Amino acid sequence: MIKLDNVSKSYNQTRVIDCISLEILKGELFVIIGPSGSGKTTLLKMINKMIQPTTGKIYIDGVDISSIKGELLRRRIGYVIQDIGLLPHMSVKENVSIVPKLLKMNKKKIEEKVVRILDMVGLDPSIYLNKYPSQLSGGQAQRVGIARALAADAQVLLMDEPFGALDPITKSHLQNQISRIHKKLNKTIVFVTHDIDEAIKIASRIAVIKDGRLVQVDTPKNILSKPKNEFIVSFLGSDRALKKLSRLYVKDFMHKADRINLAGKDLGYLTDAVTKNYIWITNENDILKGWADLSDSDQDNKRQVSYIEVDYKMFAAGVDETLKDTVSKMLWHSSKVLPVCKEDGKLIGEIDLADIITKT
Ligand SMILES: Nc1ncnc2c1ncn2[C@@H]1O[C@H](COP(=O)(O)OP(=O)(O)O)[C@@H](O)[C@H]1O
Ligand SMILES: [Mg+2]
Repeated sequence: MIKLDNVSKSYNQTRVIDCISLEILKGELFVIIGPSGSGKTTLLKMINKMIQPTTGKIYIDGVDISSIKGELLRRRIGYVIQDIGLLPHMSVKENVSIVPKLLKMNKKKIEEKVVRILDMVGLDPSIYLNKYPSQLSGGQAQRVGIARALAADAQVLLMDEPFGALDPITKSHLQNQISRIHKKLNKTIVFVTHDIDEAIKIASRIAVIKDGRLVQVDTPKNILSKPKNEFIVSFLGSDRALKKLSRLYVKDFMHKADRINLAGKDLGYLTDAVTKNYIWITNENDILKGWADLSDSDQDNKRQVSYIEVDYKMFAAGVDETLKDTVSKMLWHSSKVLPVCKEDGKLIGEIDLADIITKT
């Protein structure tokens, strides 16, 4: 889809990009990561001809882009930057319509499209269509920036540290949204960041660059488990093992959970009925209510039972949650096993720290 062949860029004899060859496949969410000044922005801007390489060639769908007019190329490639550059005198609707208008799409179609895309990026059209950029929070403005890039129907989206200035919660929501949009629309996305957690969370492949050179191009899993050199190890940080968990999901590690509906029964009978040292307690609709702790015995070795009520919203893991979040919850609740519940609280399984340790 996008191919860089021995691309270099120099400013006054200084090479800021040094012989980079690399192929980005159709439908990838390809992340370029490196420290500040390593050449990420330069590399990205060469893909849409905002910067010309000094030597080397870039191909999109097999076509050498030096033969395409920059302006025409940029209409086919969405571009999102941190300071999203919304036009302040235009409403959200007008900002998102810019490229479709340039492409002379008819008015009704543009309107339908803007509504659809605002929905997709998580902005309620009935609230935001007619707002102006000055009335938006940083996260909302960034969503409009993404909507604007999507409205062009470009098959390629370039994103340069788009979430760099956002607070952690908004950032995490937008990362999830980009992953969803990427899966849904099957676009090729080239995403620049200096945030390794972000890269591991969203990338299909990661290219690590340093001083304008490629250090390693690989899947997040391989970068984490087989870092090529000390630079990458230090870039990954000391919590490499935990980072790996941010790519793994509860649904792939959970197993069946025993539960008892206690309605009308006395806790005491559990000491005979249950052999394990705990059991989940649910109501008649299978909604998690708590658990019975059967790990204690009295002096006569008779098993004791105590009931611990929990709020599933706080206590349970979700099927689509990452193992990193789940392990964090386990530490928080001092529990090696957690129930897995649906959003409505229905108990669907359990997840065990021992499985996470042995199977990841
Ligand atoms: N127009 C320019 N003139 C001279 N040097 C530049 C210019 N643009 C970028 N550079 C230099 O190129 C290097 C890479 O910059 P950049 O691609 O912006 O890095 P990153 O996005 O990874 O922070 C930096 O050392 C920067 O100072
Ligand atoms: Mg940059």
